[in-house]
Amino acid sequence: MTAVASAVTIPARERAVQARALPTRTIRVALAGCGVVGGALVRLLHSSADAIGARHGVRVEIVRVLVRDARRKRDVPLRAGVFTSDVEQFVAEDVDVVVEAIGGSDVAGVIARAALGRGTRLITANKELVASAGASLAALGRTAGATLDFGAAVGGSVPVISTLRDLLGTLPPVYVRGILNGTSNYVLSQLERGSDYPEALAAACHRGLAEADCTRDMDGSDTAAKLAIVAWVSFGVDPSTLPVRRIGLLPEPARFVRYASALGGRVRLIAECARVTDGGITCVVEPVIVPLESSFARTELEDNRVEVGLGWSGPLAVSGPGAGGAPTATSLLSDLLSPVPRTADSSPTRAFEAVDDPRAHSWLVAGRVSARTLLRTLDTSGIPIQSVRASAGDSHVVTRPAAWAALQPVIAELAASNADPLVARVELPAVGRDLS
Ligand SMILES: NC(=O)c1ccc[n+]([C@@H]2O[C@H](COP(=O)([O-])OP(=O)(O)OC[C@H]3O[C@@H](n4cnc5c(N)ncnc54)[C@H](OP(=O)(O)O)[C@@H]3O)[C@@H](O)[C@H]2O)c1
Repeated sequence: MTAVASAVTIPARERAVQARALPTRTIRVALAGCGVVGGALVRLLHSSADAIGARHGVRVEIVRVLVRDARRKRDVPLRAGVFTSDVEQFVAEDVDVVVEAIGGSDVAGVIARAALGRGTRLITANKELVASAGASLAALGRTAGATLDFGAAVGGSVPVISTLRDLLGTLPPVYVRGILNGTSNYVLSQLERGSDYPEALAAACHRGLAEADCTRDMDGSDTAAKLAIVAWVSFGVDPSTLPVRRIGLLPEPARFVRYASALGGRVRLIAECARVTDGGITCVVEPVIVPLESSFARTELEDNRVEVGLGWSGPLAVSGPGAGGAPTATSLLSDLLSPVPRTADSSPTRAFEAVDDPRAHSWLVAGRVSARTLLRTLDTSGIPIQSVRASAGDSHVVTRPAAWAALQPVIAELAASNADPLVARVELPAVGRDLS
């Protein structure tokens, strides 16, 4: 079904521009998924059909839509006959582009392989699929002469992937670092404003931000998948083989918010992929306590922010709404209208490999134990302490810089004694009572 123009009054000047640039080409699209993201894309194509025709000289026609329940009434401007729940019928459709917005990797993988294998361009918002099979899908497409585009899989409306790809051809970045999950950032912001966790999560789901399984948002898995894609584009490492060290916000995100506030900062779930040796990169997702005035602390609600270190005086940064139907649909549309398909094999020619993190950071280590027990445990592992706070059987310390590996025995011992250990990286200039 054609994305039909809505009945609005178009100013004379705009009419003249449109008259000069009537669509000359039709892009036939098969859309997998008509939920938060797919539905928003259909509405966006409908409401901007005139502008797309005038600016790009194309008309986008959605010829088939795959859903689970083809009979359900949906709030989208498409005729009922366009919907199918038959995957075989969907993949057999002869189209110019397949847009995948169903999520997961089983059916999405079948659709992606079928499209790319027969030379049809695939555009996807599915980070799980790209992180687990992006390199092999891109190779399949290359053989058949088709491209895989996945700008919508990372950052929602924020042009993370296109920014990184546009930077290639110069040097690979020194690091890429940022907030890549809108749901967890939304939850943290609401907790900072006084909500409790169930309330904050329910609000994120209501706004269409959360993944089908919101545990993936909160435990850092969704962020880790996006980071693997970022590392692929930035450093050429196959995302399916990349180890990502991950600390999520579960089971009690409010604890992180409380400790961060006690230290005078804010906690953010930050993903980082950095060159730590000449040919080695380390990828981590972890809660980081940052200063109140920092750009990350000021990134609130569903916004994402990504900083790319290039060895210049400061990082290059992109930010904006990182989840939700309309922002993600905008990114799909941008890939769809991109005149020169950007191929995944534009990755840097130099091969990097993943290595253990040799860097030392300050850490917040907390546990439901006395301060004395916590200090003794850290002391046994030789980890120097910067400051300590304790209240009614719940203590937390900030360490002096220590490597992640050195912290492992401490966390294992606290976990073994059911002390609910919690760890976050600390990036505050000076914290608490100095013990030195
Ligand atoms: N929501 C966001 O903010 C966001 C942001 C960036 C990226 N993404 C990604 O976008 C993708 C879609 O997310 P979403 O939030 O739009 O999900 P959603 O609201 O749950 O929509 C999923 C759609 O896919 C259909 N579907 C799911 N499994 C199917 C199957 N096995 N066979 C046929 N149809 C199936 C569903 O059909 P029914 O409608 O019949 O159930 C529904 O229309 C995911 O990969 C997600 O990670 C989402």
